[in-house]
Amino acid sequence: MYTNRIIACLNARFLTAAAALACVACAYAEESAAPSAEAALRDALPGIFAKAAAHYKALDAAATPLMHGGKNGAAQYPHGMRGGRLDMRGISGWTCGHYAGSLWLLFEATGDEFFKERATAWTELLAPNSKLITTHDLGFMMYCSFGNARRLLKTDKYDAVLLETAASLSKRYNPALGLIRSWGKVDETKNFLVIPDNMMNLELLEWAARAKGGEKRFHEIAVSHANVTMRNHFRADGGTYHVLNYSQVDGRVQEIRRGQGASCFTAWSRGQSWAIYGFTMMHRETRDADYLGFAQTLADFAMNHANMPADGIPFWDYGAPGEERDSSAGAIMASALLELADLVPAEKRARYRDFAVKQLTTLASPEYFSAGAENGHWLLKHGVGAKPMNSEIDTPLNYGDYYFLEALLRFRNSLKK
Ligand code: GLY
Repeated sequence: MYTNRIIACLNARFLTAAAALACVACAYAEESAAPSAEAALRDALPGIFAKAAAHYKALDAAATPLMHGGKNGAAQYPHGMRGGRLDMRGISGWTCGHYAGSLWLLFEATGDEFFKERATAWTELLAPNSKLITTHDLGFMMYCSFGNARRLLKTDKYDAVLLETAASLSKRYNPALGLIRSWGKVDETKNFLVIPDNMMNLELLEWAARAKGGEKRFHEIAVSHANVTMRNHFRADGGTYHVLNYSQVDGRVQEIRRGQGASCFTAWSRGQSWAIYGFTMMHRETRDADYLGFAQTLADFAMNHANMPADGIPFWDYGAPGEERDSSAGAIMASALLELADLVPAEKRARYRDFAVKQLTTLASPEYFSAGAENGHWLLKHGVGAKPMNSEIDTPLNYGDYYFLEALLRFRNSLKK
């Protein structure tokens, strides 16, 4: 009985996240001796997935007619909103795999064949990206799309495209530095730019090293990149720099750039979340204890930061209190923390899991989870793309939705264990 009341709480419009949590707690206090945010989120999950599925059916009805609406009929995919309209981008954009990926995750969440059919169409559109050597974002682009297709359809028919993608990504690796170049041309000599987001590409390489027809060097590249990043890319307190520029002459860091962050002295929130996620994933893939310890240091920096709001959704930079929140940073971090909670020793589990549950409860509240056609049917409001570039401020972002859905699924799957 209390389930319906909690779903009603989470769906109620104009309720703040804190009020939603209090409301959830109230419902339990009346009818349960052990009210818990975890139980409330568990009971709300079917309603959250049903609402997300309805949103994405409407979103896909708007996006599908635009699928080949680029210049000269070029393929394009939905990224977010711009000027009140759906923002469609060319398929070499870094977020091209997240839309297809969200459709796969909704197929996983609901079993609805509609999502399988649409996810397949949007995924296969991205195949030409396997040859790209102009970007490091190939993990996002291809593993969120083809990787989920492979996993959920239990098929190897996409393995060739994924292996070709891993080989393309590896062309950006510099063996002398031990790093994959993030930004810039593959043969640029003056700058060698690396960002923590790059950690997210390593999952593709780890898969490719194990796959039939894959190569061991993909694992060696992933480990080297993670190790050098761990050594250089973070301050003593566990906060991340955004952009490091390495010298290709002697391997030292020749420049620190603020990139999408507020300054060189603060931590850009999404970069911090990418790093927590990336080192947690690398521990899962390699079982290297250093990665697990480091992921905890990075997570503790974020969770304990004086500027972390009580509801768990960070401001867009840890040095920008009172400015816009970034829902995507919260969603990525929640997904990472749920995995981290399952990897740390038992006595530390609740620390990371409870924080992730708090973040998901906030994101599922009306403050963040769009109602109806508001927000063009994207799920999450209040994402920040790149504030210093005055780009995408307080807006939906397709990758925010992707990691929100992934975190909800990780939470649901953990209940079965
Ligand atoms: N990888 C780019 C971003 O997170 O904005």
